[in-house]
Amino acid sequence: MADSIEIDSGNTWCNLILTIIIFFIFFSIYKTRVLPSIHVEEFYVPALNSTGNFTTINNTIYINLKLKNRNPVTGLYYVDPLYFNLSFIPKEQKTSIHLAEFGLHGFYQGNGKAKRVKGLLMTHGLPSVLNGTQGALPAGAFRVDFFGKVRYKLIGYHKRHLMLLAANVEVDDKTGVKVGEKAIRLVNSGAWDHKRAILLPVSMLLGAFFM
Ligand SMILES: *[C@@H]1O[C@H](CO)[C@@H](O)[C@H](O)[C@H]1NC(C)=O
Ligand SMILES: *[C@@H]1O[C@H](CO)[C@@H](O)[C@H](O)[C@H]1NC(C)=O
Ligand SMILES: *[C@@H]1O[C@H](CO)[C@@H](O)[C@H](O)[C@H]1NC(C)=O
Ligand SMILES: *[C@@H]1O[C@H](CO)[C@@H](O)[C@H](O)[C@H]1NC(C)=O
Ligand SMILES: *[C@@H]1O[C@H](CO)[C@@H](O)[C@H](O)[C@H]1NC(C)=O
Repeated sequence: MADSIEIDSGNTWCNLILTIIIFFIFFSIYKTRVLPSIHVEEFYVPALNSTGNFTTINNTIYINLKLKNRNPVTGLYYVDPLYFNLSFIPKEQKTSIHLAEFGLHGFYQGNGKAKRVKGLLMTHGLPSVLNGTQGALPAGAFRVDFFGKVRYKLIGYHKRHLMLLAANVEVDDKTGVKVGEKAIRLVNSGAWDHKRAILLPVSMLLGAFFM
């Protein structure tokens, strides 16, 4: 009799310890949620390619972005509306030149998964110095803005996290290619124009944009 009682209490202890371990695992999952990262992996302005040999003005920009859910165990919902905004910031002026914007449909991204958004984007027109078959851009940088909200896939947790990210992209004025090999991470920007975000039209896309 005494033996069986000891075994029982041993099991109880085991269960308790297991429960505590499971609790801490879940607790650490909740504690370590992180927002997704967005990187500009490729950025190419064909009009600046000095060997491009275009017969007409080329107003397109090729971009390749990577959206990654960095959570090891937590899925993410990207909530509508999601927008990217592309502009050019001349060194001389304070005001930026709007180039293009494009939206994504909300989507789910599993833990550790990455989504690629890439393709040729038609701009409203590149800054003027570009005239003819090839040209030069005024000094400055391109800017990629992201506006969106994400929600973690957790039972009983519906909070949406606003993400306002941006990165400046420097482009080589002879090749039209992004300067540097490393992908550029979008960081907190703080800018958000609610009215425009709602009204803004989704710009024309050339070819298949979402892969
Ligand atoms: C620039 O243009 C040349 C000639 O058309 C082409 O071979 C090259 O791939 C272009 N550069 C890029 C980065 O696409
Ligand atoms: C540039 O394009 C024109 C017309 O497409 C072509 O005739 C010419 O050979 C091209 N030049 C080079 C250097 O590729
Ligand atoms: C612009 O450049 C891209 C990339 O080289 C090319 O695919 C596209 O056809 C060009 N468009 C025009 C109008 O020249
Ligand atoms: C995109 O950028 C332009 C300026 O470059 C700005 O006028 C426009 O409001 C921006 N769009 C959003 C959604 O903020
Ligand atoms: C582009 O070239 C055309 C014809 O050469 C000219 O009329 C126009 O003013 C130029 N545009 C710019 C922004 O330089």
